[in-house]
Amino acid sequence: MYRKFNTYTEMSEYAAKLVIEQVNNNSQSVLGLATGSTPLGLYQKLIEENRNGKVDFSKVSSINLDEYCGLEKTHSQSYRNFMNNNLFDHINIDIRKTNVPNGLAEDIDEECKRYDKVIEDFGGADIQILGIGLDGHIGFNEPCEEFKKGTSYIKLDESTIEANARFFDNDISKVPTHAITMGIGGIMSAKKIIIMASGDKKRDIFEKARIGKITPQVQASILQFHKDVVWLFAEKN
Ligand code: PGA
Repeated sequence: MYRKFNTYTEMSEYAAKLVIEQVNNNSQSVLGLATGSTPLGLYQKLIEENRNGKVDFSKVSSINLDEYCGLEKTHSQSYRNFMNNNLFDHINIDIRKTNVPNGLAEDIDEECKRYDKVIEDFGGADIQILGIGLDGHIGFNEPCEEFKKGTSYIKLDESTIEANARFFDNDISKVPTHAITMGIGGIMSAKKIIIMASGDKKRDIFEKARIGKITPQVQASILQFHKDVVWLFAEKN
C-alpha cells in the first residue's frame, strides 16, 4: 500500500494508528523500531496515546534495527539512549523486553548471532518501522553487491556519516564509522513493514525504492518483494 500526505504530522499520525491497532489487537506484539528523525513524530503520538490510556505497551516487546559501534550506552547519540529518551522512558513498556544490538560487545560476531537468535525466537516483528537513508539504506544496510541476510557489522557510507553529523555537533570526526545492523533477512521477516520518508530530499530515493529496479545498490528496493509493506511519504517535513 502507498499513501501520500501533505504534512509529516499527518503521516506520523497515520503510522501511529497502525501501530496502536496492532498492539490493541495483540497485547504481546513485537514492534520492530528504528532511530533517526523520521519516526520521532510517530513516537510522540505513541507517547501521547499511551498517556491517554488508548494503548498499553506493558506486554509489548521491541527489536531495534541497529546500533553504532564504540559509543557508550549512555552516550547521548547511542541508539539505546535515543530509544530510551524518545520513546521507552515515556511509555509503559517493560525495558527488559526492549532489544537493541550491543555496539560495545567484545565479540561482534557473537553479538550478531545473538541478535539474529532474538529476532528468530520472536518469529520476526509484527510491525517493522523503517526510515530510509539518502543512499537507500534500511537499518544500516548500506549499498553494496548483495543483500545481507543476517545481522552484521558494517562500515557506514560517507553519505550516512555526513547525514548523521548533525547529531554529533556537525563534526564528522565524531560520528562512529561502524555499526551493527539487523540484516535484510531479519527486516523481511517482519509480518508488516511501515516505511516512512518526508520532504524533497528523500523523494527520489523513496520512489527508487518503491518502484525502481530491485538492487542491493538501493537496499530498500528489496521491500518490493515483501507482501505487506505500507509506503508512507509526506510532502513536507
Ligand atoms: P532520518 O534517517 O530518519 O534521520 O532521515 C533515516 C535513515 O538514515 O535510515
